[in-house]
Amino acid sequence: MQGLRDKGHLQQGQQVLINGAGGGVGTFAIQYAKLHGAEVTGVDNAGKLEMLQAIGADYVLDYTQENFTKNGKKYDLILDVVGNRSIIALKRALKYNGTYVMIGGPTPHILLNLLCSPFISLFEKKKVTILIHKPNHNDQLLWKEYAEAGKILPVIDREYPLSEAAQAVRDIGEGSVKGKTVVNMMSKEN
Ligand SMILES: NC(=O)c1ccc[n+]([C@@H]2O[C@H](COP(=O)([O-])OP(=O)(O)OC[C@H]3O[C@@H](n4cnc5c(N)ncnc54)[C@H](OP(=O)(O)O)[C@@H]3O)[C@@H](O)[C@H]2O)c1
Repeated sequence: MQGLRDKGHLQQGQQVLINGAGGGVGTFAIQYAKLHGAEVTGVDNAGKLEMLQAIGADYVLDYTQENFTKNGKKYDLILDVVGNRSIIALKRALKYNGTYVMIGGPTPHILLNLLCSPFISLFEKKKVTILIHKPNHNDQLLWKEYAEAGKILPVIDREYPLSEAAQAVRDIGEGSVKGKTVVNMMSKEN
């Protein structure tokens, strides 16, 4: 929410791309962007694309088959959970006054984006920003309303007892988990 609304200034009707859309952050980002009237493209591996469409993505791309920075399409807003593309490539995928919001990624990419972002805004209308999430009670209340109204819901792929927490982490690392994983502290199997 902070990435799309505060950093990205999300507007109704905008074309938004979420890179890493099938994980814990991206599955919420898709639903939030759709709720606010955006046309959403989700990028993730092939096994997660059906789920992305089920939660509202208008278009989906398999990152193992297609590089979204090289297919000629341009977006008003890119929210990036993965941070694996160069700043030059990302600028290519932004519209004239588009915004790129980095949520996660390798430290060298984060540092490079931090260094480059003031210069990009100096010479172009395009904007590169990095989100540093700040806990906000009012946002949490808003999120509670969305959940209670069924407007934005977590995608929970699997549930594990605490005794299988290590396996839960392994499964996330292997890329087979869609959305969130729950480790149930109260499970009888613990
Ligand atoms: N800035 C902040 O304030 C803030 C707040 C929250 C989280 N974060 C950061 O955000 C990052 C992601 O969080 P998360 O919980 O959403 O992680 P996650 O659940 O692991 O999701 C990442 C998703 O990206 C996919 N992916 C991997 N490589 C990709 C590629 N090359 N192109 C497109 N998608 C790709 C993964 O798919 P596979 O299964 O195929 O790998 C996975 O579905 C973490 O680095 C976290 O630290 C930052």
